[in-house]
Amino acid sequence: MERIRIVGGSALNGTIPISGAKNAALPLMIASILTPEPLVLENVPRLRDVNLLGRILGNHGVDMAIAGKRAGQSETTGQVMTLTARDIVDTTAPYDLVSQMRASFWVLGPLLARCGKAKVSLPGGCAIGTRPVDLHLMGLRALGASIDIENGYALAEAPRGLKGATISFPKVSVGATHNVLMAAVLARGTTVLENAAREPEIGDVAACLNKMGANITGIGTETLVIEGVDALHGARHAVLPDRIETGTYAMAVAMTGGDVQLEGARAGLLESALDVLRGSGVTITENNSGIRVARNGAGLQPVDVTTAPFPAFPTDLQAQLMALMCRAEGTSHITETIFENRFMHVQELARLGADISLNGEMATIRGVKRLTGAPVMATDLRASVSLVIAGLVAEGETTISRIYHLDRGFEQLEQKLGNCGATIERLAS
Ligand code: UD1
Repeated sequence: MERIRIVGGSALNGTIPISGAKNAALPLMIASILTPEPLVLENVPRLRDVNLLGRILGNHGVDMAIAGKRAGQSETTGQVMTLTARDIVDTTAPYDLVSQMRASFWVLGPLLARCGKAKVSLPGGCAIGTRPVDLHLMGLRALGASIDIENGYALAEAPRGLKGATISFPKVSVGATHNVLMAAVLARGTTVLENAAREPEIGDVAACLNKMGANITGIGTETLVIEGVDALHGARHAVLPDRIETGTYAMAVAMTGGDVQLEGARAGLLESALDVLRGSGVTITENNSGIRVARNGAGLQPVDVTTAPFPAFPTDLQAQLMALMCRAEGTSHITETIFENRFMHVQELARLGADISLNGEMATIRGVKRLTGAPVMATDLRASVSLVIAGLVAEGETTISRIYHLDRGFEQLEQKLGNCGATIERLAS
């Protein structure tokens, strides 16, 4: 099994290109189900989750083609992917595929909208919490679908099509918003989604759906209004930059010190996280082509942060911030309100010398003078990259195993950090 080896102690200096957002690319790929015409997506990151979703969509009958390399492109230039769902030949998404990636459950809404039926495996639990799908089912039922749960599958039917409705989500859910939004675009009449998630990736998908002929207003707010249309057509859309990758590398630079340009990053997508970093003593400036992050000499100040839906501090940067605060000059508090079990990195960070205690959903992080390298294990996608951040300053060698988690969401991580001076490599076993 592959591992990543890091020798800590080098500052990061240079340029890191920011990839297209995984969490937008996945639902955008799924949106291709809604039209028989080609959907062309630019800036798609090369990630395990993208490949896996390609297989899942292929099983439904979606053709996927990736354009070859063009002059002037580097290995970090995003891919151009054409998805064509001319005929949906199979409306079943089986357990062995859905269980590998929760977002594949989001095919349920589009399949229902296009074909009037779908059989999609329930995704099951995952390392960071129970993650139910009740809000997805509630929203789709409100649009007129009948959904039974049988043998681990959601069996959904809407033989006479879906019908617009006003749906008020009792809790903000990114996935439920995507799923119900993609169903509502082809429903008869008007759908209003209240307390919808406002994550930028939702806005990106809504913008793409509008290019495909949908009629969605309220994008970027907590109320989305969708006037259903009879059919969608093909379109071309570029995936927005990955705000979680941006924040992760910003924290890596904050940790090691140095000066790095995050090329292609957009500050407006992660203001809350950038504000936290500024409060901690990191210099962040926006320029024409991205964001520049620098910390030279000054110590890191501790922070008090609570994760919450956008525009607040994202849960997907919680582990990375915790790693950073291990080296702050004082005590930080981080409260996780989105996922109940998203603290598995704490035990691994402790192996590197971190001083963290947990009390329910709050972690107390007492900054230490030094971290020291050790073998550690990745437990989920964001937790694994927090170990990379810690490893970059830990004295000596840190090896991270189970890095398939990293490959789900971070494109060319070793190359991007290595090009800026980090000593980092992938070991075959
Ligand atoms: C998405 C992101 C993930 C991010 C998360 C929160 C993708 C591919 N994944 O995951 O990276 O960490 O948003 O920003 O975009 N919930 C329910 N019932 C439901 C659905 C969700 O109770 O039917 C709960 C969840 O257990 C969780 C909270 O709502 O406590 C938020 O989950 P949700 O926003 O749905 O996360 P995902 O869409 O799975």
